Amino acid sequence: MTLLEQIKEKAREKFKTIVLPEGTEERTLQAVEILIREKIAHPILIGEVEAVKAKAKEVGADITGAEIVDPIKADYYNDFVEKFVEMRKAKGMTTEKAQQLMLDPLYFASMMVKFGKADGEVAGAINTTGNVLRPALQIIKTAPGISAVSGAFIMIVPNSEYGDKGIMVFADCAVTPNPTAEQLAEFAFASAETARELCGIKEPVVGMLSFSTKGSASHEMVDKVAQAAEIAKTRWPELPIDGEFQADAALVLKVGQSKAPGSAAAGKCNVLVFPDLQSGNIGYKLVQRLANAEAIGPILQGMDKPVNDLSRGCSVEDVVNVVAMTAVRA
Ligand code: ACO
Repeated sequence: MTLLEQIKEKAREKFKTIVLPEGTEERTLQAVEILIREKIAHPILIGEVEAVKAKAKEVGADITGAEIVDPIKADYYNDFVEKFVEMRKAKGMTTEKAQQLMLDPLYFASMMVKFGKADGEVAGAINTTGNVLRPALQIIKTAPGISAVSGAFIMIVPNSEYGDKGIMVFADCAVTPNPTAEQLAEFAFASAETARELCGIKEPVVGMLSFSTKGSASHEMVDKVAQAAEIAKTRWPELPIDGEFQADAALVLKVGQSKAPGSAAAGKCNVLVFPDLQSGNIGYKLVQRLANAEAIGPILQGMDKPVNDLSRGCSVEDVVNVVAMTAVRA
């Protein structure tokens, strides 16, 4: 069974309710047909009921069995407005503004997840990452003890000896532009969890990446990564983690042993934490293109409840896969 098949199988066992706010989007509707047929999750589409049904018919998607929720007609619309005003009053939220925002499917869907009407959310086929994340960050927020969200990619590199037989987790490739050392440490922990839960990697080994290995260069950027590794070791002593490492020292045993002798993680890393969003985003795209790797994600890490963002170039299959991953995390 491939990794994605395993993830779908886990999702079937859990059979969670996932809200898809982009209810009249073609690929989303076609994915919903598959989710229902393959019993991967129970989908809720957000939108005006007749408009959703008409679009489904137009694109030839049989969405029988999906729930459709029109925010303005939902029994809990007013309740959500009141709750949202309460949650955001320190930020100047008024009833009028909340009434408008609760008509926005992305805000409404995040409220559904927050208040238990759905177990997770998937959006982004027609919305930017920022627009998907902002309501989720305001409403669902981060998990206890986590200050920043990160976006991980599962990288499957064909015919590779590195990582866990070519499977690796890269983070943060999608969310936090310039993380602090503390936040990088959180990304390390969250990425190890992703490796365990989604990739079935029994022993995640985390490398904190830099342009230096164990003090080979000195710069404040290097210090931040080294400090992050120390914070993670102190907070999660059971986590096999080390750094700072250059990428080759993290991945290649011989190089790791020569550049970082004595490190249990050097040369064996299957989880790579990049020092900032520029390097993480560039890094995963380079591996995806140059090594012909499959890049699955971004998987949002550190949220209190699972929300995942799609690429606007996503395929129907991508939507199905991201829903399955969201369900597994729920
Ligand atoms: N982690 C946790 N919470 C956060 C984070 C974070 N990284 N960033 C912002 N927040 C919280 C804020 O505390 C705030 O909460 P509050 O309103 O309750 O106080 C809320 O989110 C909104 O914060 P803003 O500062 O208003 O939001 P901002 O406009 O900065 O957007 C966002 C945050 C969307 C994460 C932004 O940093 C962003 O766009 N990041 C990059 C996304 C991106 O373009 N990725 C690359 C493309 S994806 C790809 O290629 C796969």
